[in-house]
Amino acid sequence: MSQRQPIPSVHDLIDLDRYPLDQPDSAELASVITDAHETLDDTGVCLLPGFVRTEAVPLLVAEAESLMDQSNRQDRDDIAFGHYRHCLDTFPDSHVVHRTSSFRINHIAGDHVSAHGPLRTIYHWQQLTDFIARLTRHPVLHRVADPLLDCNVTILGPGDTHGWHYDGNHFSVTLMMQTAEDGGRFEFYPNIANPDDDNFPAVERLYDGDREGILTPPLEAGTLNIFRGRYSLHHVTPVTGERPRIVSIFSYHQQPGMIFPAATQKNYTGRTAA
Ligand SMILES: [Fe+2]
Repeated sequence: MSQRQPIPSVHDLIDLDRYPLDQPDSAELASVITDAHETLDDTGVCLLPGFVRTEAVPLLVAEAESLMDQSNRQDRDDIAFGHYRHCLDTFPDSHVVHRTSSFRINHIAGDHVSAHGPLRTIYHWQQLTDFIARLTRHPVLHRVADPLLDCNVTILGPGDTHGWHYDGNHFSVTLMMQTAEDGGRFEFYPNIANPDDDNFPAVERLYDGDREGILTPPLEAGTLNIFRGRYSLHHVTPVTGERPRIVSIFSYHQQPGMIFPAATQKNYTGRTAA
């Protein structure tokens, strides 16, 4: 007779010896945060390798793989400058705002991720939310209230890729669950733009293949990645090999109760909460 596996606790999942989130006043955690601030300020990306214990990573992968048949497929070419979508025709045809890259992604919406599984055990742990607030220098953060996009999963299979884009949020939090055998690399150009300057010439050089300024943070399974993607162009290179690249995205907001616009929900999940 088969027995149901016990639900792992957050202590089984997160390496609290290395990242003592359960001791928020400790000097050890203060040191982790100081180091993270330096890296974030310097490069716009902060990696916490081994955040999920090595032995717990397969639990997360198994959960994601079990949800694969409920994923929504995004298969399109798109521009990076979504904020000019409403006025694209005011730019000449040759302008870099019209350049596109490929988005071939399977998204698992948050409402398919079990409330009692390992992924939500991590995401719903209040000490993690408090830790992310300290890392990103917010007095307080809340997990978003969006049932589709609070805690979701992206799976890139062979040939899949996540095209060049900016994030709508000032910072993003992702958890690498499984890397591809090859390819599937996260590439990031810190602060290529700023609120006053789109820096079109640099973006054009990047599209033309210039690698100057691009970082490739070494993401391994179990790594938590906090990055500032609002003005930093980033993408994921095409996956090669059979093993899918699996990443979870955790969403936070300064105000409680945040729900993403219906268009954003539809874009990622093919549905709206309504
Ligand atoms: Fe992004």
